[in-house]
Amino acid sequence: MVAGRRRDPVVSENGRMSESHAVPVVELPGDARMPMVGFGTWKVTGDQVEAAVGAALAAGYRHIDTATMYGNEAEIGAALGSSGLDRAEIFVTTKIRPPDTGKEPEVLRRSLRALRTEYVDLWLVHWAAQRSWRRKEIWNDMRKLRDEGLVKAIGVSNFSLAQIDELIEASGETPAVNQIRWGPSAYDPDVVVGHKARGIALEGYSGLKDGRLKDRALAEIAAAHQVTVPQVVLRWHLEHGVTVISKSVRPERIAANFDLFGFALSEAEVARIDALGHL
Ligand SMILES: NC(=O)c1ccc[n+]([C@@H]2O[C@H](COP(=O)([O-])OP(=O)(O)OC[C@H]3O[C@@H](n4cnc5c(N)ncnc54)[C@H](OP(=O)(O)O)[C@@H]3O)[C@@H](O)[C@H]2O)c1
Repeated sequence: MVAGRRRDPVVSENGRMSESHAVPVVELPGDARMPMVGFGTWKVTGDQVEAAVGAALAAGYRHIDTATMYGNEAEIGAALGSSGLDRAEIFVTTKIRPPDTGKEPEVLRRSLRALRTEYVDLWLVHWAAQRSWRRKEIWNDMRKLRDEGLVKAIGVSNFSLAQIDELIEASGETPAVNQIRWGPSAYDPDVVVGHKARGIALEGYSGLKDGRLKDRALAEIAAAHQVTVPQVVLRWHLEHGVTVISKSVRPERIAANFDLFGFALSEAEVARIDALGHL
């Protein structure tokens, strides 16, 4: 058994999602409520990101994903500010780069200023530093800033389960989230089970860049539900309890990628998509 603060993600409305158009939410430590459908902003900057985030909020997304490395926090802050939505209605994630170890307080304060907010809902370390002591150092520094109230929940990105266990053992605290590349070709049931067993919410990125998107199985499932292949792939994440973030700069795609609650995949369809990872 792994040590640390164990708290299984509670997924509300999961399972019968087809009957409700509400986005399911994962409850994280720190009273952070993470909508399971998020909007990504990697490689989008300037006016384009401000417009894209505006379109995402108008389409109904309430979960926005950024990182200091994306260089777009200020424009996202502007879009959040002009949305007319209360800050509390939106779940905001940003990330810190491991080379910024030792500078966490200034990096976080800069993120908060740019995002025009007093706190972020989720703060992730963007990837695992090569050296174990460095991974532990940034994690402990992040925990201190979380304790100061600048962040609701903290987690990791691109970590293996072994690297996560090392953090848990060293700090006694389990990361709330691990954000990793996910999609049919990356599907590994051990990864899903391993995170669930530790009470860590799994968040998947780059699902629409998956190498299996042109597979016949996905086209057939999409046709059966009269939806698109991207919608099937995004819905497949949710069927596994995986929070999904997608990015687009086109309003019609932004809206379609959020429109995941008018259909549900059968167990057989989920299994067929899972099998694409083993081809
Ligand atoms: N933690 C990490 O290390 C990490 C790494 C990568 C990504 N992320 C996060 O995850 C987010 C999502 O990942 P991602 O941006 O790599 O990939 P993605 O959202 O899976 O795919 C984005 C690509 O798919 C296209 N696309 C979007 N919707 C589509 C649709 N309905 N039909 C056809 N094409 C569509 C987009 O083009 P258009 O814009 O032209 O529509 C873009 O080229 C990122 O933006 C970022 O926030 C995190």
